Amino acid sequence: MTHCERDDVVAANIEVHRLEAPYYDALHYEENNFYERSRRRRAIEEAKRILEGRRHGLKALDVGCGTGKMSLMLAEAAFEVFSMDLSFEMLAVFREKLRQRKVDPEPRLICADMFTFLADCRERFDLIVFCGILHHVVDVPEAIRLASARLNDGGVIMITHEPLKQTISSKTRYMFHRALAAPDEALYRFCIRRLPDEAKSIDYSMSDFQRQFGGIDAKMVVSELKDNGLSVISERKYCARRFGLSCMIANTLIRSQNTFQIIARLG
Ligand SMILES: C[S@@+](CC[C@H](N)C(=O)[O-])C[C@H]1O[C@@H](n2cnc3c(N)ncnc32)[C@H](O)[C@@H]1O
Repeated sequence: MTHCERDDVVAANIEVHRLEAPYYDALHYEENNFYERSRRRRAIEEAKRILEGRRHGLKALDVGCGTGKMSLMLAEAAFEVFSMDLSFEMLAVFREKLRQRKVDPEPRLICADMFTFLADCRERFDLIVFCGILHHVVDVPEAIRLASARLNDGGVIMITHEPLKQTISSKTRYMFHRALAAPDEALYRFCIRRLPDEAKSIDYSMSDFQRQFGGIDAKMVVSELKDNGLSVISERKYCARRFGLSCMIANTLIRSQNTFQIIARLG
């Protein structure tokens, strides 16, 4: 990895999310469907259980918070939330949501690159969440190392909704997986047909950096977490789809996987 590559990916993310911000919530059905929302709530409950008995006023850092979906869930779960993102425009959408609904206490919004923020920050957190963000960065091990250093004793890192790098183990399952993807994507295209072309023609090739390798290797993530003194509490591989019903079919009947979540505790 070169600094130039890292800067290029950061610049691509700033540009992509500037273009995408006004349409982000309308574009990303896979983050908003009922299956994914309830999956995220369960992940937060799990993190809370791990942190149970610890001091009150648990602090959570939502890295790459985007338009704030996960941050709002963390606030609902009574965390004091620090919401950080590289994109001024994504944070502006989040700020508008906060203006329209009462969230008490309000998450603190920070506009920064996560590597700079995590390296410079003096705050410590009980929970650090990476939700659909690590595939946007060049150096995943460095992100884990910096986050681990910002945890309170017994603190938790949650890495969730990340594309899973994998090999095809069952051709039949893969066939059903693809067969389900086709109508899910076709219906999605139909639903977003009225969005302007500028929203539908964004080039993610540089911003979604880890996708060029087919996703992120979950084994590597586990090994990095362990090397930084964390114990893995749970590891889940699942299938993310645009619609909740497709997620249900994929995860209960086909049992295919394209996404992962890992929850780990320091110590
Ligand atoms: C796929 S969105 C995920 C948003 C949010 N976590 C969610 O689940 O709704 C990725 C977000 O990561 C942000 N991002 C990308 N690279 C970043 C970096 N180096 N530091 C901080 N945020 C970054 C983008 O601006 C974008 O808002």
